[in-house]
Amino acid sequence: MVKKTVVATAAKGNQDKWLDHGLWYKLDTGSFESLAETVASQLLEKSNIQSQLGYQIVPYEVTKVMRHGQQRTACVSPNFLKEGQTIVTADHLLRRAVGADYQTQVFAKCRTYPQILETFVDVMVQVTGLVDFGAYLTLLFECDCLIRNVDRHLNNIVVLWSPEGYDYCPIFDNGASFLLNPLEYPLDVSAKSLVKGIKAQPFRYAFSIQVRQVRKLYGQQLQLTIAHQELAQIVDDQLHHYPLMYQGYLRE
Ligand SMILES: Nc1ncnc2c1ncn2[C@@H]1O[C@H](COP(=O)(O)OP(=O)(O)O)[C@@H](O)[C@H]1O
Ligand SMILES: [Mg+2]
Repeated sequence: MVKKTVVATAAKGNQDKWLDHGLWYKLDTGSFESLAETVASQLLEKSNIQSQLGYQIVPYEVTKVMRHGQQRTACVSPNFLKEGQTIVTADHLLRRAVGADYQTQVFAKCRTYPQILETFVDVMVQVTGLVDFGAYLTLLFECDCLIRNVDRHLNNIVVLWSPEGYDYCPIFDNGASFLLNPLEYPLDVSAKSLVKGIKAQPFRYAFSIQVRQVRKLYGQQLQLTIAHQELAQIVDDQLHHYPLMYQGYLRE
């Protein structure tokens, strides 16, 4: 039986962000979002996402910017939108297809978690014509599970629209990953025990349950093999952007 019918639509935080000369900048808010974005994009680049599945991954880099007279840490990524393309969120599409009360009209009526997933995918396929949306959603959930991205609400499940029609959006916006927000995940609690308590968005099930259920419906998508040493190197290469006192914590 479904435990909760309220589906997450709200973002975790509100990062200051801007577009400048074809590059998007997003300012850290104290939760090491830039590190998470960068490590997530570099890690996912080692997977089959681009080579086999054919989706793009937006590359992020940690950088320093001057903002309101202070040097701040931010992440930077190339603008992935082509001429005429816009981002359309799942929340927006559900509102248009079902109405503003889609939570009660659609999700609250589902009796099981697989039903919720299938209903969501069916609406998205109907509205966008993207017949592989189920597989795409599976990939998003697999990535979220791998990097423990806790911000996959319905405004962070998005597709691209242009006059030619809809398209799948490149993988981006993974700044709320790896449990790096010290306010939510206290530094004195081990990462291992924190991992056990967190839930995946947007349906608030355990990450493992979310992935198992969605894979049963649409099949496994993500494949990634990486040596511990290689992973450690991806992280270590970014740590100099952060104060020495945090580096041990961030590496863990
Ligand atoms: N690399 C990028 N290319 C195109 N648009 C971007 C890019 N990065 C951010 N944006 C725009 O900014 C919005 C918010 O960025 P996002 O990374 O989703 O941050 P958050 O959801 O944490 O506010 C996106 O929905 C998109 O409109
Ligand atoms: Mg977002």
